[in-house]
Amino acid sequence: MQNTRVALVGAGFMGRMHGQVYTALEGVDLVHVVDKDAERATSVAGPHGASTSASLDNLPEVDVVDICLPTDLHAEFAVRVLEMGKHVVCEKPMAISLAEADRMIEASERAGKRLMIAHCIRFWPEYVELRRLVESGELGRLLSLTMMRYSPFPSWGSDNWLADERRAGGAALDLHIHDTDFATYLMGRAPDEMVSFGNVDERGVSHVSTTMSFGETVIHAEGSWNLPAKAAFKMAFRATFERGAAIMDGGPLMVVTDEGSRVPEMPKMAASGAGGNISDLGGYYYELKYFYDALRDGKPLDQITPASSRLSLETVLAEIEAVKGARTVAA
Ligand SMILES: NC(=O)c1ccc[n+]([C@@H]2O[C@H](COP(=O)([O-])OP(=O)(O)OC[C@H]3O[C@@H](n4cnc5c(N)ncnc54)[C@H](O)[C@@H]3O)[C@@H](O)[C@H]2O)c1
Repeated sequence: MQNTRVALVGAGFMGRMHGQVYTALEGVDLVHVVDKDAERATSVAGPHGASTSASLDNLPEVDVVDICLPTDLHAEFAVRVLEMGKHVVCEKPMAISLAEADRMIEASERAGKRLMIAHCIRFWPEYVELRRLVESGELGRLLSLTMMRYSPFPSWGSDNWLADERRAGGAALDLHIHDTDFATYLMGRAPDEMVSFGNVDERGVSHVSTTMSFGETVIHAEGSWNLPAKAAFKMAFRATFERGAAIMDGGPLMVVTDEGSRVPEMPKMAASGAGGNISDLGGYYYELKYFYDALRDGKPLDQITPASSRLSLETVLAEIEAVKGARTVAA
C-alpha cells in the first residue's frame, strides 16, 4: 500500500511538533511544507526531504493537508483545501467563530473529505487513563473533576498573533479550550449548567475559571496566561470518584484508593527543540496516528467528530461571554 502523502501548512511551534511526529509515524510521508516564512518552512521540511512554498498555490499531489496556522486562518485554509479534494487535520481550536466552524463542516461534507481537529488532550496518556477510569467504573462514579492549565503569555507566536484577541481568542480560546474540550468529550455532551468568572485584558480573557455540572458530576476548569514570564507551564487535574481519586499535579498520575496508591505506567515520547512550552510528543503522536490509521483503514473518526470540536468551541465562546458580562457584586 502507498504511503499517505501530507503537506504541512504553518511551520511554527505546532508545525515543528507535527514535523517531529511525521518522523516517527509509519506509512505517512511529509512531502511538502507551506509557510510564508521561507526559513521556517525549510527547517521543518529539511529532515523529511520535503519541498517548500509560501502559499497553497504550489501544492504538489498530496492526500492530506495538516493545518498548523494561527487560529483565525483555520477556516479559510481548511475550506480551500477541502475544496481542492484533500482531507484536513487542523490544530485546535477549530476556528475563531461558530460561523467559521460551520463553513468548515459544510465544506468537508460537500467534498466528502475528512476533517479532524487535533484536540491532543483526548490522546494525552494521563487523560486517556482518566477517561478509562471513568468509563470502566473501576473507582465508581465520577463525582468531581478539577482541571488546571496555566502559563505565562506565550510570546513565541509569529507576528505576536496570540496577543490579538481577534486572531487567537485570548487564553480562554487558545489554552483553556483543552480542558473545556476534555470535559465535554469525557461527558459526551454540553454541560447542564455552567458559570464562569475571570480576568480580561487587552488580549482578551486572560484567566478563566469555570464550573460545569453534568447531572451530579461537577467539573471545574481553570486556564490562565496571567503568570509571570519566568513561571513554568503547568497542566494538572484531580478527579474524585466514589471509591478513589486520580491525581496529576506536578508529578506522575497517581490513582489513590483507601487501600493505597499506584502510578499507572505511561508511554513517554520526548519532543526536542520545537520551542513553546511542551516537552512531551506523546499526545500529538497518538492523535495524528489515530487520524492516519483511520484514513488508511477507512474507519470513522468517532473519537473526534467535527461536531464535538464545534461543541467545545461553542462552550468556550459562552465562557468568554460570561466572563466579559460578569458584574462584580458589592458585598
Ligand atoms: N495542541 C496544542 O497543544 C497547541 C499548542 C500551541 C498551539 N496550538 C495551535 O496551533 C496553531 C498554531 O500555533 P503556533 O503556536 O504554532 O503559532 P506560530 O506562530 O508559532 O506558527 C504559525 C506559523 O504560521 C505561519 N503563517 C502565518 N500566516 C501564514 C500564511 N498566511 N501563510 C503561510 N504561513 C503562515 C507563520 O509564519 C508561522 O510559522 C494555533 O491554532 C494554536 O492554537 C496548539
